[in-house]
Amino acid sequence: MHHFYRYRFRLVIILLLAAFITPPVFAGPAHSNADAGKKIFGSNCLGCHQAAANGGAGIAPVLTNPELLRIASDRFLFTTIKHGRSAVGMPAWAWLGDDKIRQVIHYLRTQSTLPSLAAKLNAQSAAKGDAKRGAMLFSSICATCHGVGGRGYEEGHTGAAIGDSDFLRVASDGFMRYVIKHGRSGTAMRGFSGAEAMAALSDREIDDVIVYLRTIPITPQGDAS
Ligand code: HEC
Ligand code: HEC
Repeated sequence: MHHFYRYRFRLVIILLLAAFITPPVFAGPAHSNADAGKKIFGSNCLGCHQAAANGGAGIAPVLTNPELLRIASDRFLFTTIKHGRSAVGMPAWAWLGDDKIRQVIHYLRTQSTLPSLAAKLNAQSAAKGDAKRGAMLFSSICATCHGVGGRGYEEGHTGAAIGDSDFLRVASDGFMRYVIKHGRSGTAMRGFSGAEAMAALSDREIDDVIVYLRTIPITPQGDAS
């Protein structure tokens, strides 16, 4: 009996060592990268962004959301993760190092198969419109969830902080147009065009709102560099 346990113990150690030493023969590099990213995600991001990256309303956004992954460029994700949105609850992860941040992005990319629209959206022309009209639309429609100051959760609301400098710095006008039009499925952010819209906004009105958001002063990038 005694011996049996000793042997079993030894076997476990050997198996553990083998697991660490054996090169990943079956998993291709892309796959193992995503696995590594999933682990990093599990130990650093899960607490706020929830299991399977389904963030709860008012805590952190849903990172596996198909409409987010479809429009967020690697640069958007990389900058957001590296520098955070420190004023509104998203810490900076620069200390993880660029490689690990890339692995997390790789993992997130495996969560959606929709073709990316990021390059196309980011190449769109800048919004043109009337900031005053945009401000009125913002306060009557968007502020309910995003807060009067656009600071989202910080103001006790369920929407993200779309008035935050770290967001405004990386989100292109095309990115914003897409979110406002199409929303994010499975969240309170419903699109503002089409039959299912909570309120129909014309392209011009959407641009007015974006022009208004662009009047919010952008503070220098946060503590991490
Ligand atoms: C302490 C809680 C917390 C942790 C931990 C955290 N985040 Fe966040 N994250 C947030 C909050 C809050 C936001 C939204 C801020 C806002 O805009 O209102 C956010 C936003 C984001 C966004 C932008 C999503 C969008 O819809 O634009 C990305 C990407 C992101 N986080 C990635 C990560 C990754 C990757 C990790 C782990 C390395 C991580 N976060 C860890 C709280 C957290
Ligand atoms: C009923 C609540 C609600 C209303 C009204 C609303 N939003 Fe949202 N919005 C949300 C939520 C919740 C999210 C975050 C979704 C998620 O978790 O991914 C969001 C996300 C966004 C994002 C993406 C932010 C990011 O970090 O990537 C933008 C841009 C946005 N909303 C713009 C607007 C604008 C402009 C309006 C007004 C025309 C508006 N929203 C009205 C709830 C709302």
